[in-house]
Amino acid sequence: MNDTVNVTIDGRAVKAVKGETILELASRQGIRIPTLCYHPRLPLAGACRVCAVEVEGARTLVASCVFPIEQEGMVIKTDTERVLQARRLVVELLLASGDHNCLLCESNGHCELQDLVYELKIERPRFPAASPGHALDHSNPMIYRDLNKCILCGRCVRGCNEVQVNQVIDFGYRGGRTKIVTAEDRSYGDSNCVFCGECVQLCPVGALVENKARFAGRPWAIKKVPTTCTYCGTGCTIDLNIIDGRVVKITGNEGGVTNQGSLCVKGRFGYEFIHHKDRLTTPLIKEDGRFREATWDEALDLTAQRLGQIKEKHGPDAIGGLSSARCTNEENYLMQKFMRAVVGTNNIDHCARL
Ligand code: FES
Repeated sequence: MNDTVNVTIDGRAVKAVKGETILELASRQGIRIPTLCYHPRLPLAGACRVCAVEVEGARTLVASCVFPIEQEGMVIKTDTERVLQARRLVVELLLASGDHNCLLCESNGHCELQDLVYELKIERPRFPAASPGHALDHSNPMIYRDLNKCILCGRCVRGCNEVQVNQVIDFGYRGGRTKIVTAEDRSYGDSNCVFCGECVQLCPVGALVENKARFAGRPWAIKKVPTTCTYCGTGCTIDLNIIDGRVVKITGNEGGVTNQGSLCVKGRFGYEFIHHKDRLTTPLIKEDGRFREATWDEALDLTAQRLGQIKEKHGPDAIGGLSSARCTNEENYLMQKFMRAVVGTNNIDHCARL
């Protein structure tokens, strides 16, 4: 069976894998086709039509993100004037359908719609903007929702329903009144949302943003440092969003092998402990009922001395060790090794054992 076909894209004769989309072929060829509703982690939707391209013989432009290549000899054009005009029209209509005031938007500088306006050289939208007038949703501490900025790309809906399988949001109402809703159109805070923040991660505009991180710093001031979440042993890859040495936000790392950008509520939103004033920064030793700060050498010497005394007096089984899912595998291995080989007991357990 021949799984490839010969096609032409922007004048280049290339081989395409049968069934791959035009967008996939273009990206393999280094040809940029803009997208909005498309996201590599999500099922295809073909909703926004920003990725329109011309296929010779087709009556209309086609959405490249969903159009499969099947036929030998297809001729595809991704940057004709007709294509660019169609993309501009789509973006101008999106601009007109909401309140896209970048000055007041948390996502300014990190907005795919804003980027497209620039890329398509839209100087002045042809259509007057009409804000839908949705109330701002401040109902929960984690996610801030401004549906006036929503472009109905459905990425949040697919992420919620098909990646996280939480099934909290969907399209509601009809026609010009269409909006993203929770069950019975309740606020996020009043819904059965578990606040994994997948919708925030996937939103291409400023409709869904992290509440705590609002006004914490502009995207261009943020330095992203990839690291591993410490909340459990899954080992999700996160990006610490850092400004002036302080973590102002955590986002899922889309290249993370374990999680591919998805996170749970703790991993995404539970980072205030990092700079919390109550956080222990040195070991403490209790003397006469009061804690005093100590050096690590002092604390480790004291611990070794006390464990030795207990073992000598009561035997090794008088000592037990508890380890943690927040440690690495290597640290947990060392802990059990220490208890078995150094202390001499099998009294070792782990908080995630059950
Ligand atoms: Fe292809 Fe939206 S990106 S239709």
